[in-house]
Amino acid sequence: MKFFIDTANLNQIREANELGILDGVTTNPSLMAKEGISGEQAVMNHYKTICEMVDGDISAEVISTDFEGMVAEGKKLAAIHENIVVKVPLIKDGIKAIKWFSENGIRTNCTLIFSAGQAILAAKAGATYVSPFIGRIDDSGWDGIELIHQLSNIFSIQGFKTEILAASIRNPNHIIKCAEAGADVCTCPLDSILGLLKHPLTDIGLAKFLEDAKKFA
Ligand code: E4P
Repeated sequence: MKFFIDTANLNQIREANELGILDGVTTNPSLMAKEGISGEQAVMNHYKTICEMVDGDISAEVISTDFEGMVAEGKKLAAIHENIVVKVPLIKDGIKAIKWFSENGIRTNCTLIFSAGQAILAAKAGATYVSPFIGRIDDSGWDGIELIHQLSNIFSIQGFKTEILAASIRNPNHIIKCAEAGADVCTCPLDSILGLLKHPLTDIGLAKFLEDAKKFA
């Protein structure tokens, strides 16, 4: 399973990248706004900086909601760097735009997926990635991980090449469950990635080893 970080914060991207386990970055308009990035040029520059920091797929989201607007925006985003993946919302014109991008050599990440039907449509249109939002599904009283199981099964039966990119991750256990359910990629906040490191027995065990090491040092 590939690890992406889900942020537009450069310090967090740097910290995750320095671990040596980072395969890419996802952002969205809310994450960009959180970093105070505004205006088309500033947004484009920020994506360029991220592409120069991380050698992996970088999702950059369109904000148009009509076919022509999405295509025009996506072309500009894709021109920033070869690693840019154009992120398109799962709406009717989004599906048409994904089809256009796939026929024109531009990779896409179909975002805001909450059902298997939506993911099937995006895969049929040729999306490179589909992004089911695990945490938001859980928040609404449904089971996000169950959707990953379902998609993993469907994509394997149907031979879809589209990768399942589990998004809206809220904790380390979500990452483990996504790996178990067959997600191809998990995009996570830094805290959830670092949370995978933690186990009290590791801390206790290391403290004991270091204490005992003093006996022969
Ligand atoms: C995915 O690409 C989205 O940016 C993200 O995972 C949404 O997560 P949230 O539900 O925590 O906002």
